[in-house]
Amino acid sequence: MKRWCFILGIVAAFTLQHTAKAVAQEPQLNLIKEEMIAMNDAFTNLIQALIFNKPDVIEGPFLKVKEARKKIEEAIKKGEKIILPKNHSKFKEFMKLDEEYHAELEKLLAAAKDKNMKIIKLQTHKLLNFCVYCHARFR
Ligand code: HEC
Repeated sequence: MKRWCFILGIVAAFTLQHTAKAVAQEPQLNLIKEEMIAMNDAFTNLIQALIFNKPDVIEGPFLKVKEARKKIEEAIKKGEKIILPKNHSKFKEFMKLDEEYHAELEKLLAAAKDKNMKIIKLQTHKLLNFCVYCHARFR
């Protein structure tokens, strides 16, 4: 358990630092980055909530992620191009992965409502695996 928290803490610290750099270097954000920055804040908050046993603070920051995701959906509907840094030709696979990810996210939010720390922990781990996998493939 201790080691697991430690690893998550490092991931959180690293991603946070990374975001700060990204924002400083590129004032013009694309829609995916916008969603991802919200995602990063929400995930960091999630880890804190998990470590300090505060399931009720988990959902809040994820609402911003949902708003950002809606913007992407609308942009795609309008025919705007969303460019992936890597493997752009596999955009359909990216969309499928994104859907799977968000289905797991919904399970996390349901568990947060139920204050079920065991499921919250399990879902946090699953989501982390999605961050890592999707970035390796498309970022
Ligand atoms: C379905 C795919 C997918 C998932 C899942 C995903 N990401 Fe991302 N993420 C991306 C892509 C693609 C980019 C690159 C966007 C760009 O640069 O245009 C990105 C970029 C980022 C960035 C910005 C990095 C930079 O370039 O400065 C952060 C921070 C980030 N993601 C955090 C997360 C976190 C935290 C999670 C998991 C809780 C996560 N992402 C899950 C696809 C994903």
